[in-house]
Amino acid sequence: MRYVLIWLENDEQVAGFLQHAIEESGRIDRMGYVLAIRIPQTREFAGFVMLEIDPEQKSTAEVGCILLPAYWKSGYASEILRALLAFGFGDLALHRVYGKCDELNLASAHVMEKCGLQYEGTLREHVWLRDHWRSTRYYGMLSGDYSGRVENGTPVPSSGDSSR
Ligand SMILES: CC(C)(COP(=O)(O)OP(=O)(O)OC[C@H]1O[C@@H](n2cnc3c(N)ncnc32)[C@H](O)[C@@H]1OP(=O)(O)O)[C@@H](O)C(=O)NCCC(=O)NCCS
Repeated sequence: MRYVLIWLENDEQVAGFLQHAIEESGRIDRMGYVLAIRIPQTREFAGFVMLEIDPEQKSTAEVGCILLPAYWKSGYASEILRALLAFGFGDLALHRVYGKCDELNLASAHVMEKCGLQYEGTLREHVWLRDHWRSTRYYGMLSGDYSGRVENGTPVPSSGDSSR
């Protein structure tokens, strides 16, 4: 959780987070998707993933993912982000999907770049995060950039018009 903005450091905060996840799952006009990550073969809990639609701009959503350390560097986050892009641009018909990370979070930045999100800029030292000023890197993809195709583990950009 070192580089993550959300605080899940005591039972009360975890309960509030889970309550939000449960309530959203029952809403007809669902805005938040907080989903458990499970390893298919073993059903082990490996972390959670989020897709949150912006209440002010419902064609946009933020995505994020937190894995337990035992599951890092096995390609799960890349697989998950590709699935979220398919869900966001497919089922939800979003125009823009974005992610953000602490500039010190090299793993997160690498996952977003690898999945084809474009680096859009850095908000410098805008928040004190536990022990340092956090600068946040923003990455985004537009529906017109998304082709859904992956070749040799690399997303193939759409040749279409990203203004739609
Ligand atoms: C960030 C996080 C989700 C990455 O998950 P992951 O499953 O390890 O990522 P992947 O295995 O898909 O790795 C994708 C790429 O990033 C690289 N990578 C992973 N961890 C890295 C690290 N600590 N430093 C540099 N590169 C890293 C991998 O080597 C891989 O590159 P490659 O395909 O070129 O070999 C995971 O480290 C995590 O949950 N961290 C804690 C929570 C967090 O920071 N979440 C993101 C909030 S913005």
